[in-house]
Amino acid sequence: MKNLVLVGFMGSGKTDAGKLAAARLKMTFVDMDEIIEQRHGQTISKIFETKGETFFRRQERALVRELAAKQDQVIATGGGVVLDQNNLRDFSRTGIVICCWVDAKMAHERTKNTKHRPLLGGQTDRLARIETLLHERESLYKAIANRVDTSAMSVVQQTDEILRIYKHQAGL
Ligand code: S3P
Repeated sequence: MKNLVLVGFMGSGKTDAGKLAAARLKMTFVDMDEIIEQRHGQTISKIFETKGETFFRRQERALVRELAAKQDQVIATGGGVVLDQNNLRDFSRTGIVICCWVDAKMAHERTKNTKHRPLLGGQTDRLARIETLLHERESLYKAIANRVDTSAMSVVQQTDEILRIYKHQAGL
């Protein structure tokens, strides 16, 4: 089966919906950030802090190539995977890429009590930070033809919609 690749901003539900979709499709669930953390023995925040974002993006790029060479996976990507178009090109070769869109308010709501996202910094002005970052990336996310606006959706609704698109595109 073709990979199901979920991209989208932080807080767009890629991981939660990805896990549920994988269970329903009986496919392997893969979380890119989790693999990078395991391989480096450091959290994403620590990697950003000690080795820098450029280093992280190189690891992310290498992992995309590795995962895109395999099949039967539901892949939750990191929010910044769209920053390198080569990533989307590689994933599209062996999978169906679906963008989970989320508006800034809901991205804030869903991430406000978390501490593991280095690009969002501390609690102060987090909404403003999200608005800026999302605005910078909006055209990259919206260039992806398969898109689900998750802002007002539950995880189950989001998963249903993702599976509908995946099955339709995969001819299932
Ligand atoms: C990032 C999103 C994070 C993680 C890293 C960078 C981004 O993943 O890869 O902190 O650039 O948007 P999530 O989207 O799973 O939070």
